[in-house]
Formats: sequence, C-alpha cells, structure tokens
Amino acid sequence: MLLDILEYPDPRLRKVAAPVAAVTAAVQKLVRDMAETMYSAPGVGLAATQVDVHKRIIVIDISEARNDLRVFINPEILSAQGELECEEGCLSVPGYYDKVVRAEKITMRAQNEHGESFELGTDGMLAVCVQHEMDHLVGKVFVDYLSPLKRARLAARLKKKQRLAS
Ligand code: NI
Repeated sequence: MLLDILEYPDPRLRKVAAPVAAVTAAVQKLVRDMAETMYSAPGVGLAATQVDVHKRIIVIDISEARNDLRVFINPEILSAQGELECEEGCLSVPGYYDKVVRAEKITMRAQNEHGESFELGTDGMLAVCVQHEMDHLVGKVFVDYLSPLKRARLAARLKKKQRLAS
C-alpha cells in the first residue's frame, strides 16, 4: 500500500519517533508499505516519520538495480568517523538538492524486519543515507543544516509553489 509522504515544512516532520517495542506483523506490514512507497516515489531512503508514523524505522535501497532493501528498526549509531560532503535530496523536500557534511564512516546497530539485532560498519553513500534517515526520526530535515540565506531562499521558493498550487 502506498503511503502519503509529508512535505517540508509540515510540522509533523518535527515529531520525535518512539522506539519499536516488538517487531510485530503490523510493523512488518508498515515496513513493506514504506519500501513500496520509497520505490514508487522513487527514492533511496524513507523514514517512518515521513509517512506520519512516529516509530524508529527506516528503509534504504541505494543499489542501482533497486533490489537491495535494507531495513533498520531502532537504529543507533555506535561510532562515527571522518567527514564527507554529499549532495542530498529528500522525498519530503521534492526538487531540492544541496550539500551536507556528514560522518564518512559509521558503525551502527539495529534490528531487521524479523526483529533480529545486527551491527553494521559502513561508509560512503550508505553511511550518509543512514544519517539522513535517522535525522528524520528525531524531527530533523536535511535543509536544517543549510545556511540561513539558503533556507530563506528555499522558504521563498516553497511559498511561491504553494501560491501556484492554490
Ligand atoms: Ni529525507
């Protein structure tokens, strides 16, 4: 089932997600719906916050063939190293891309869609993507990292878009 994606600056994107107590059938259904929504958008990652479900769940697929779904439930970053500047976009900020500095390498822990715990060390695009999606779970959007000038320009652009739509 396709889910509606909230768009910045929707205040619901600011909610802090709660930990998932148990990976139930309902959680697994949500994971499937989130993956379907991400693939359909199309996007490389989606956090539950973006579909107005405030639970610590993210899905990511950075593969070109779109056949390498990764599910992270209750993700935690255990360590982070280095810096990497990447151009980011977000399904909640359609059509806007900008550079953000993130950690280059991370070690993380999470549960998969079967509720099994795992640890993962990763770098590059997957590490950046995990950090971007985990930010959503604490109510942060990548444009929060932009300079005040760039955010003001984005706000003006969104206002204009809203006027055109109404
Ligand atoms: Ni995003």
